[in-house]
Amino acid sequence: MNLMLMGLPGAGKGTQAEKIVDKYHIIHVSTGDMFREAMANKTAVGLKAKAFMDQGELVPDEVTNQIVQERLAQDDISQSGYMLDGFPRNLAQAKALDEINAQLNKKLDAVINIDVDPKLLVERLSGRFICRNCGATYHKLYNPPKVEGTCDRCGGHEFYQREDDQPQTVKNRLDVNIKMNTPLIDYYQNAGILKQVDGAQEIDQVFAQIDLFLRKIN
Ligand code: AP5
Ligand code: MG
Ligand code: ZN
Repeated sequence: MNLMLMGLPGAGKGTQAEKIVDKYHIIHVSTGDMFREAMANKTAVGLKAKAFMDQGELVPDEVTNQIVQERLAQDDISQSGYMLDGFPRNLAQAKALDEINAQLNKKLDAVINIDVDPKLLVERLSGRFICRNCGATYHKLYNPPKVEGTCDRCGGHEFYQREDDQPQTVKNRLDVNIKMNTPLIDYYQNAGILKQVDGAQEIDQVFAQIDLFLRKIN
């Protein structure tokens, strides 16, 4: 099964991805995570991406399409399937993904859009913190660890906030992504593979909607 999870910044892509991967054993491919790792390792891709990410702008399509193409060609994905998170983000990337799939003899089975009113997103992003050891995502109000200061997933004790969750960058990320979102939704609606879920509900309720859908198509 090959899936794409879309939604505005803070909609809950990473949060739902963790749950989908645990249950369906497909491989999480997050372009944002790949860029952050490349930046931490100071690779050529990381150095190119940094200026864009720091501003909340999209990294140029040719850089992004290339890293996705390389990742989707790897063996683990052929065996398990992929779950893209945050790619494609515009029509040019959607068309590039169609080409990558055609070359690799793969097919995108479904696109899940986590639909949330942008008004809710600033608060979600400003309260987010992430486990330094395993990358699990938390929120100070909506999704705190069961034991304060300890990661539920790995027992780690160190957490951080993302650099692009500063208020000024958040505003630009939202503006940039809102502009791209509607054409992308139309594209996948026309392709007949779009599933809309209400992302304003609690995390477990959002997952229940996704799970119900995946049980039908898997
Ligand atoms: P990326 O890392 O993908 O960031 P994003 O799209 O801005 O989305 P986020 O990761 O911030 O949000 P999310 O939807 O994963 O929400 P989360 O689950 O964490 O991309 C970062 C940057 O990389 C981009 O700005 C761009 O520069 C570059 N980039 C990436 N992909 C690219 C591409 N294709 N092309 C070009 N450039 C690209 O949840 C957020 C918070 O809310 C958490 O605290 C969580 O606990 C909480 N929460 C989640 N769900 C709920 C809920 N239902 N109720 C209450 N709280 C909730
Ligand atoms: Mg994310
Ligand atoms: Zn952890």
